[in-house]
Amino acid sequence: MEFEHISVLADQVVDFAPQASQSILDCTLGGGGHSKRLLEKFPAAILYGIDRDAKALIAATESLKNYKEQIRLKQASFSELSECLEYWGKPRFDYILADIGLSSEQLARPERGFSFMNEGPLDMRMDPDRQHLTAADLVNTSSEHELLKILRDYGEERFARKIVSTILVERENKPFETTKELADMVSSVIPRRFQKPGFNPATLTFQALRIAVNDELNELGILLKEAPSRLKPDGRLAIISFHSLEDRMVKHQFRKWENPCVCPTDLPYCICGEKPLGRVITRRPVNATAKETAENPRSRSAHLRVFSSSQMPHD
Ligand SMILES: C[S@@+](CC[C@H](N)C(=O)[O-])C[C@H]1O[C@@H](n2cnc3c(N)ncnc32)[C@H](O)[C@@H]1O
Repeated sequence: MEFEHISVLADQVVDFAPQASQSILDCTLGGGGHSKRLLEKFPAAILYGIDRDAKALIAATESLKNYKEQIRLKQASFSELSECLEYWGKPRFDYILADIGLSSEQLARPERGFSFMNEGPLDMRMDPDRQHLTAADLVNTSSEHELLKILRDYGEERFARKIVSTILVERENKPFETTKELADMVSSVIPRRFQKPGFNPATLTFQALRIAVNDELNELGILLKEAPSRLKPDGRLAIISFHSLEDRMVKHQFRKWENPCVCPTDLPYCICGEKPLGRVITRRPVNATAKETAENPRSRSAHLRVFSSSQMPHD
């Protein structure tokens, strides 16, 4: 079965990989697109890869079948990465990549419940076999306060209050079950004059619920904690994110690694003893070119940031 996904910023991801990379970790295999490009460039490398979605793992295994001897793939989320690394014998990596968010495949399958364009169950779990909480559970059972927090914090939805109060009333009559029921309700409560052409009014609500269902910011936080100590000296960590909350987290963490000193700025020298872990390679996020966004509109919101570990080993 075809896996529907075009890898974003693929040339840049390959170009940022350290020369002669021997050991690579792809934390978001998806259809294996980036991994394949990296193995084409580094045909002798060992590539380790995870994805929390079993279907992505099947697709990546198929797309990397010519590299059978060199790949080690496992179904896991970022929060399970440390167990995977233990299982693989604690390898260190020249290059760690994470292309976070959804694949087009996940979005395109109505039965996964991510899309407001297609009728499907209100699900949104990236790993439906092991995650229990669905978007429908959140919408139908969360308190007003919890729902407001989700829509505001993860969706930055300015009509959060209106949407939540309508959810609370409507779910008393009938629980929300499908993507379309929710999307239609959101469209009906956001005033027409605030609806932008080409932008579905339910976009931010769906984004917020998806982030909450998959605990995405927490997952990213765990990845950011785990990654630096897993890099070889001079190894690189590349992260592609698709919305501002994630990009902000990556930017701040990279800066902190580069300059971890917590001494008051008026002290003449550092007494905190915090040592930099390396340096930020991308002062600004790398974005897709006009050509790429024309060919793959999904790439428009992709931001790539790269951090290089220092030459000294650190834990
Ligand atoms: C944008 S796609 C990756 C596409 C891939 N780079 C390619 O070129 O084919 C993102 C993938 O990351 C996975 N993912 C998202 N969050 C994850 C997490 N916390 N742990 C593991 N996998 C995750 C999703 O299931 C999805 O398959």
